[in-house]
This record gives sequence, C-alpha cells and structure tokens, in this order.
Amino acid sequence: MTSQQTSFPLTSLAPIGENRPGAEWWRTAVIYQIYPRSFADASGDGIGDLPGVTAHLDDLRSLGVDAVWLSPFYRSPQHDAGYDVADYRDIDPLFGTLTDFDEMLAAAHDRGIRVIVDLVPNHSSDQHVWFQEALAAEPGSAARARYLFRDGRGPAGDEPPNNWESVFGGPAWTRTTNPDGTPGQWYLHLFDVTQPDFDWANPEVQEEFRGILRFWLDRGVDGFRVDVAHGLVKTDGLPDHVPAVTGADGTPADSMGGDADDVPYWGQDGVHEIYRDWHRVLAEYDGDRALCAEAWLPTVDRTAEWVRSDEMHQAFNFPYLMTEWEAPAIREVIAESLRAFPAVGAPATWVLSNHDVVRHASRLALTAENPQGHGIGPDSPGKPLPEQGLRRARAATTVMLALPGSAYLYQGEELGLPEVVELPGEVRQDPTWFRTDGERYGRDGCRVPIPWTADAPAYGFNDSGATWLPQPTEWARLARDVQEGDPDSTLWLYRELLATRRAEDLGAGSLAWLDGYGDDVIAFRNGNVTVIANASDAPVELPTGTVLVASEPFDGGALPVDTAVWMLAD
Ligand code: GLC
Repeated sequence: MTSQQTSFPLTSLAPIGENRPGAEWWRTAVIYQIYPRSFADASGDGIGDLPGVTAHLDDLRSLGVDAVWLSPFYRSPQHDAGYDVADYRDIDPLFGTLTDFDEMLAAAHDRGIRVIVDLVPNHSSDQHVWFQEALAAEPGSAARARYLFRDGRGPAGDEPPNNWESVFGGPAWTRTTNPDGTPGQWYLHLFDVTQPDFDWANPEVQEEFRGILRFWLDRGVDGFRVDVAHGLVKTDGLPDHVPAVTGADGTPADSMGGDADDVPYWGQDGVHEIYRDWHRVLAEYDGDRALCAEAWLPTVDRTAEWVRSDEMHQAFNFPYLMTEWEAPAIREVIAESLRAFPAVGAPATWVLSNHDVVRHASRLALTAENPQGHGIGPDSPGKPLPEQGLRRARAATTVMLALPGSAYLYQGEELGLPEVVELPGEVRQDPTWFRTDGERYGRDGCRVPIPWTADAPAYGFNDSGATWLPQPTEWARLARDVQEGDPDSTLWLYRELLATRRAEDLGAGSLAWLDGYGDDVIAFRNGNVTVIANASDAPVELPTGTVLVASEPFDGGALPVDTAVWMLAD
C-alpha cells in the first residue's frame, strides 16, 4: 500500500479514559434497538412479539452488541405503534405476557446482553384509565388535572386554547363532548388525538411515574429510553407558538424541535427537575441502571443539558444523525460532541438510524430535504440511489463504530436494509400519514418486518407469512441467512466492526484528528486504530499499514469513493 504521509499530526480532543469515570457499562456500550412489532413474530399473527425476541437473542450475541433497547410493548390500542400506552405495567397481548417479558430478560442477561425498555411519559393513550376518568369528570376536577384540559377560545369556546400544532400534523388540541352531548373543554395532544399529554406540574403524575420506573427496575431492566424527553414541561400559561425558524413553506422547520429553539413545549428548563428526581430513583438500585433521553434539540450543547451528572446518563445524538454525508459537517459534529458531552461528565453517543427516520442506507443518498418523521414515498423528490446509499451507510457506520462513547444501532441496519419507499398508501399505518392526508408519508418505510431467511414465509419473520407491513421482494437477497454465507455482506461488516471495536476498546478511547487528507476525508485515530473515510469524489491514498476492516471489499491501493477503513499503523 502506498503512503501519502509518514507522520500523523495528532490533535487530541479527549484524554484516554475520560469515557469511563466509574467504568459504567453504558459509557461505551453498543445498544441495538429492537422494534418488537417488526423484529420476529413467534405467534404468526403478522406482528412481532417478545417470544420472537427471545428466540433470536443468540443472533444478537453473535452480532456482538452489549445491550438492546426495546420500543414499547405495553398495553396499547396501537394508534401510534405502542407509543400510546394504556397500561404502563402490563404487556399488550399482541406482544405476549409479563412472563414472556421476564423470560426474555433472563435469557438476555444469561447471554450478557443488557435490556433497556422504552418509557413514554409525555402522554398516555386515550384508553388509559386516567384519561377515561378525566373525560367522565367535571372541568376543574382532580381527574382532569392529570392532563392538560383547557376551555376553548372565542365567545363559544370553539377555538382551540392556543395555536400549537401536533407533531403528526393538524392542531394539537381536540375538543371533548360533555355527557349531555354539548361541546366541552379541549385537551392537548402534541402527537395523535389518541395521545393526551400529561400535566407534569401535577405531583400525582410525578408519583405515578416513579412507581412505573420502580415496577420495571424491580423486574430487572437495565435502564429506560425516555420518549420525547424534551417535551414534558410546557411554558406556563400555554402561550401561542410564534416560530422563529420556519421551513420553506412557512411551517416550523422541524416538528420535533431539532431545528428550533423557541418552542413553548420543547426543551423547557423545568423538565430537568424531573430527570434529577428519576436519577435518584435509579441510584437506589444496583448495577448502573441508565436513562437515555430522546430529546430533539437544535445543538449538541443543548442536548448535553439532558446528561448533566445528576440527570440522565445518555442522550441520543440527533445532531449527528441529521448530518449529511459531508466530511466537514461530520468532523464538526464529532468534535462538538466529544467536547460537549464529556464537559458534563457524560459519554458522547452516536446513532444513524431509528424507527422515526429514513433508514441511513437511503437517507445518506437523499438529494432532497427530509425533516424528522416526514418519511419518503413513491412521489418524493430526490429519491436515493440504492447502491450509493448502501455504500455510504456502510462507510458511515464504519466511522461511527470507531468513535469513543456509546453507539445505537437500529434493527435491520446490520443487513443494510434500505427505506421501503414504494409502500402504497393503503398499507401505511403511521398517524402522520393520516393526519396530513398523505402529504407526509411518515415512518412506515423504516418499520417493515426484517428478513431472516430468504426461502421462508415472510422471510423468516414468522411461519405464517403474515406481516403488518408488506416486505419488498428484493429483501430475499438481504435476508440474514444469505448474508451469513457472504463475507462481503453488511452483516459480516457489522460483526467485524463490533468485534474489533471491543478488542481495541474503542468505546473507551479518544479521538485524534489526522491532517493531510483534504477537506472531504474524515481521518482520525482512536488508540491503535486509524480510521479513514472517503466522502470525496476521487480515490484517496492511504498511509502504510494493515487494513483491519474495510466498509467495501478492498484489496489495497487507493481508498475508493464512499468507503471507510480501519487500519493498524505500521
Ligand atoms: C417518539 C417516538 C415516536 C413516537 C413519538 C410519540 O418520538 O420515537 O415513535 O411516535 O415519540 O410518542
């Protein structure tokens, strides 16, 4: 291999070891997101379940992850795929039973895999007993005070209390009907009409969630991913939202708050008291239990406020996820992250895909803007080229898994699954699709049940062939069993990256940039490993050394476009 330069100017961002003050597992862990309804379906009803998870834990162990996070499996009418919880202390029959949960947890722990569950504290389902009580109760009653009921504006009270919009489109308020049939008060729902927001100023709500945390901690979970962790507290008086940052069509640029800093329901200071309280609850338990914030905020610095030493332990790095495949922008967000998170004593985290965004094997080759949650579909502009998308995704993951800190993977990315773009309207289920009359496709395209076996019903998702969203026929060649036999597959790449990351202890390492490769190349060292990713449009000369892992089949020479390598220096 030719050498472009013989010495590497190193600029250290964080000293080795800063990642692990107490060597807690979550500082360096690779955490795999299971979206239960699309992972594996033991019952054959077309929706994945907990016994399906248990049956595939060995596959996750062989992949090499440290922990799993499961999206909600609680009792729910499933109007938002389980993020509308009717009973926080029980499993929905779709997914199994509490016994199934306990078996899954024990089986995961037996294999050294930790388990994080999803907590949804911003809102419940409208079928939750508290909301049903609230509807039956009088305005001003204690039952209504658990949610955000208000009188409407205008002489007849027939206008919503303020101008807030639902993240899924349309107004964030719905008017109730009194028992005598007359129109009543309105209630707030930042998401679907079936997801009423709690009033977190109410001590009863606070106490209820302490109890829910304890219920799952007592069962042995290792932590919680906290849904909409930036949204629980609203500005006093619920004032109108006057957006300062807007998209091209005049609407807020990012409905989850990732682009805006002025929204009366995102990122309010009071929310931090809740997490200080929860931090104390978790600290009563042994074993480094962890809280991870789903908080969409405009900057890494704002995100780091959620992981100050007495609050949560991790926060998803959405500024990193939203960064396009452009080397200067990627370097910048990495540098900011490795400054901002350690500055408050927290590990940096990294994530490229989840159940709310276009899968990164498609997103990184998109040529049109795609705000969080909007999705892409048959008529979207700038549709990605699949080969380019996969190539970039493999390179981007190769960069991500070399970074110090903790990384999140989303089920199916280890197979290189693309977004399913061509889902017809009649099969779509995301409330976003319905609430915007199809103007936004929503998130179904990243939620299609994953393929395990090429030559089996539903590609091995179950035995019956039923799937709650249709799987594309092209997925036969992406099935896990096909990839098992192909050393060039994405599955092998992920396994190699995870094994090498572990062997070289990269999660606990530190990053030093390497200069001299040009603006469109990402080049750094973490411990013994040199990482070079080519996001330019021409091949790049590599230094001398041994290639440990390459994101594409690679036999030496210059590093091709959209390719990344891990090397050991000579
Ligand atoms: C979070 C979840 C998303 C859900 C929303 C409402 O953003 O990740 O899937 O729809 O919260 O609970």
